[in-house]
Amino acid sequence: MDASDIILETKNVVKKFGELRAVDGVSISVERERITLLIGPNGSGKTTLVNVISGYYKPDAGRVYFEGRDITGLPPHEIYRLKLVRSFQIPAPFARMSVLENLLIASRDHPGESFFSHLLRRRWLSYDRRLIDKAYEVLEMLGISDIWMRRAEELSAAQLKLLEIGRALMSDADLIILDEPIAGVNPTSAHEIFSHLTELKNKYNKTLLIIEHRLDIALPYADHVFVLNEGKLIYSGSPAEVTKDERVRAVYIGE
Ligand SMILES: Nc1ncnc2c1ncn2[C@@H]1O[C@H](COP(=O)(O)OP(=O)(O)OP(=O)(O)O)[C@@H](O)[C@H]1O
Ligand SMILES: [Mg+2]
Repeated sequence: MDASDIILETKNVVKKFGELRAVDGVSISVERERITLLIGPNGSGKTTLVNVISGYYKPDAGRVYFEGRDITGLPPHEIYRLKLVRSFQIPAPFARMSVLENLLIASRDHPGESFFSHLLRRRWLSYDRRLIDKAYEVLEMLGISDIWMRRAEELSAAQLKLLEIGRALMSDADLIILDEPIAGVNPTSAHEIFSHLTELKNKYNKTLLIIEHRLDIALPYADHVFVLNEGKLIYSGSPAEVTKDERVRAVYIGE
């Protein structure tokens, strides 16, 4: 594999909370334009690892590389500007605003301290034509252009998830990290969401790193799987093999 195929890499990342080694020497490589799943039991360190990657926590040891660049310890907004976004970085949708408006808002520069006051002042000003075009493109990418005018509070659970992904896409990120993108969504809609994620990778060259517990649904769409247990990486390999792996079965699949 060529080094340029790797968009994100962690090397021996350690993150401690007091005595607890929540992430304990984890090295992963995420390939460009792939869907990579990060799985593991509750409390195994998945969110903590993502918090280190996206700059919310400084690791106690180890390095994080994005596009070959050492981003360890950079603040979240700088990492976001480098085109690595995680879904929760974007504020929750405004219930009374339309899908389109929620996308336009998400395109603003990083949601920092002054974000909301700034936003409310600007809300009634006309949006840049370029941004509106981009929002429509994102709606098309996700197959929800027919609901652009609907208020967020009227959306189904699945449509809300797609809106959340759409808001991440508005940042133009190349790597999108999603924490449970199908939580609370029925199986049919969950498959639809993963089909859209697959399209993002195939048609729009996006890379997705996804934390997900519903393996029955997510595994068929994954290209690679990492499994964490007690802060340690216990599996890195294909989705087809992961459910056969003895260590994984022992700690996660529950056998
Ligand atoms: N801010 C914190 N302070 C202290 N301990 C923490 C903190 N965040 C996480 N932990 C602990 O670190 C460990 C890893 O937690 P983490 O949230 O990363 O797990 P997870 O794999 O995301 O779990 P889940 O599947 O439940 O979301 C857990 O034991 C958790 O209690
Ligand atoms: Mg978590």
